[in-house]
Amino acid sequence: MTRRDYLYLQFSGIISFLVSACKHESEIKPEPENPIAPPFKTLEILSIIPYEAIAGESLTVNFKAKNIKNVKVELINNKVDALETKIIDSTIGFYKFQLPMVLEKDSLFSIKLSGDGLESIKENIKTQYKHPPLKTIEILKIEPQEAIAEGKLGLFFKTENIKTVLIELRNKNGDLLEIRNVASEDGFYLLSMPGKFEADDLLSIKITGDGVIVAKENIPTFNVLKISTEAYPELKLLGGFQKISISKGDIWLKRISTNEMKAFSGQCTHAGCGIDFLKSDNLFYCSCHGSKFSSDGLVLNGPASLPLNQYRCQFIAPEAFKVIH
Ligand code: FES
Repeated sequence: MTRRDYLYLQFSGIISFLVSACKHESEIKPEPENPIAPPFKTLEILSIIPYEAIAGESLTVNFKAKNIKNVKVELINNKVDALETKIIDSTIGFYKFQLPMVLEKDSLFSIKLSGDGLESIKENIKTQYKHPPLKTIEILKIEPQEAIAEGKLGLFFKTENIKTVLIELRNKNGDLLEIRNVASEDGFYLLSMPGKFEADDLLSIKITGDGVIVAKENIPTFNVLKISTEAYPELKLLGGFQKISISKGDIWLKRISTNEMKAFSGQCTHAGCGIDFLKSDNLFYCSCHGSKFSSDGLVLNGPASLPLNQYRCQFIAPEAFKVIH
């Protein structure tokens, strides 16, 4: 063996050892992870809005999709009729999808999402009927509360879900005194009606709109008498009395205080005779059958059994009052 052959054998041995060592190492090492493993896929119905599906309304489905390219959304009724199918280009994220207004009252339906081998289903969603919003018109009050001839009438009313309101004011004969058309939004209204009506009339107020009617009938009208104490010096004195004639007969006015006046009917409550005020006795006296009434109109002696009728007085100023009769 030459020296050259010897060296060759030595070198071959080293190489064989190294190759075998490398082979051994590759056998015991675990396989490296595949960096492009398929991603996890999800498809989930999160909510249906409105929560109770309402017939006649559109339905919104909120869902989540991850790593699904195309999501097929199917709306199916209980007869398995496909009501609506949509393909949504989905990648990753949350989706809101509005379904058309095809839902019928009391129907059952299901929503199915599918894509890339996954399905998400909600079944037996029952539709409910939503009643149309309640329509109301309401007369809240009439001011002055007793309608006063020669004055404006303030009409307070309230509407809800009514577009146009028609207001009619009629007298006791049914004659149309005033008609108004009011564009209405939800809320409270104050409408001033003119004072074409007459004293002692009866009014009716009718408000209509979108099939709803409200009416107030037999609203009595009154007359207003303005009293100036300048014209009646007795009424400047506290406790002073003054007789005044009006269309309904006589009335007796009594000054009570700076801002108070009382108005008594001048008719006896027994049989309607006229009464007088006896200043010396501080009482009202009926000469027909002898009834007596106190200065506050209470019965002192019969045959009358009822106190004197009174009219409403309103304070304007210390020198001016209104009598409503
Ligand atoms: S009418 Fe006045 S007492 Fe009879």
